Amino acid sequence: MDFTQETYNLVIDSPGRINIIGEHTDYNNGFVLPTAIDKKIQFKFRKNNSPSICNVYSANYNTSFSFDLRNIKPSLQQWENYILGVIYEIQQLSNKLEGFDCVLESNIPVGSGISSSAALECGLAFGLNEMFNLKLSKISLVKIGQRAEHNYVGTKCGIMDQFASVMSKAGHVILLDCQSLEYSYVPIDINPYKILLLNTNVSHNLASGEYNLRRQQCEDGAKIISKKYPKVNSLRDVSSEMLLEFKNELDTVTFNRCYYVVDEKERVLNTVEALKNNKLNIVGKNMYKTHEGLSKLYEVSCPELDFLVDFSKNYSKVIGARVMGGGFGGCTINIVHKDFIEQFTKQASEAYFKKFNIKLTAFEAMPSEGTSIVNN
Ligand code: GLA
Repeated sequence: MDFTQETYNLVIDSPGRINIIGEHTDYNNGFVLPTAIDKKIQFKFRKNNSPSICNVYSANYNTSFSFDLRNIKPSLQQWENYILGVIYEIQQLSNKLEGFDCVLESNIPVGSGISSSAALECGLAFGLNEMFNLKLSKISLVKIGQRAEHNYVGTKCGIMDQFASVMSKAGHVILLDCQSLEYSYVPIDINPYKILLLNTNVSHNLASGEYNLRRQQCEDGAKIISKKYPKVNSLRDVSSEMLLEFKNELDTVTFNRCYYVVDEKERVLNTVEALKNNKLNIVGKNMYKTHEGLSKLYEVSCPELDFLVDFSKNYSKVIGARVMGGGFGGCTINIVHKDFIEQFTKQASEAYFKKFNIKLTAFEAMPSEGTSIVNN
């Protein structure tokens, strides 16, 4: 298969995402505040005249694989499962897929908490929808991506990442209610501050198992509470007063997990108000509180992330910082005065290297448009 010829007629950009606040709230039916950023996977597609043979090439890994649409099943290569999972889910809804070639190239660092996986799932679904005229709505594409991750990758993720990847609007964050999927765009004009991501460049492999465990613990907590309060379907329906009534009934770990989520749910709404009123100090303080909860109660941080968040507290020109995404490594998200970005990055990198002997990578994140067609 020659992937190099420039005969691709459909090019799609599919972005990674940041999340200002609302971490591990999506699968508890709470609120999140994400947006796509200017880091993306670019997909080039062409039909290949075969009824069912498909070829996918990753330029980053210089590797390719082929599959037959008549025989889709999970692979032992995890990255292939993101692709195969999407194909499988599309086939549950449509029989219009035919053979295609696809080349992908990414500048989203993998394992960095900015969801290269949702970008991969959603870009593929978006491109195939376009090329084969499947007539699937954007929300269907979002759900296809999420289901692929559940069923083929094995992470029981919420809907935030796929939603942000597909639905984002440049210059805005999305306030998404993960229960009803109602959403609104909130302008994010934080000048003279900027969003700086510091990538720890560690990715502790606990991530998927621990992630699913957190989800289970939250569901267990909600179930116990629902015995007294039958209207409770998820932690979305639990107030802090209600939760406190169960302090002795829930084991400490479950209680802590639930406590963090119930608190975070409120914090998202409070942060949106602050953002709308340009009260960035409140946004920043809330981010620090989120980190505290994620580290101490939800236990999805790690020494590298904690170090960077603590380090940022030495500087008044950094108004907020926290671990972003699933946790156990990846990036911290920081709100930093634009004149201080260079100096802060330099000092944080030096301190981080001294402590862990690992190089930090830093980049500014620009709230950007969701998955889109580059040319057709
Ligand atoms: C991962 C998941 C999301 C969300 C975040 C934590 O990125 O894919 O659904 O749960 O973790 O907020």
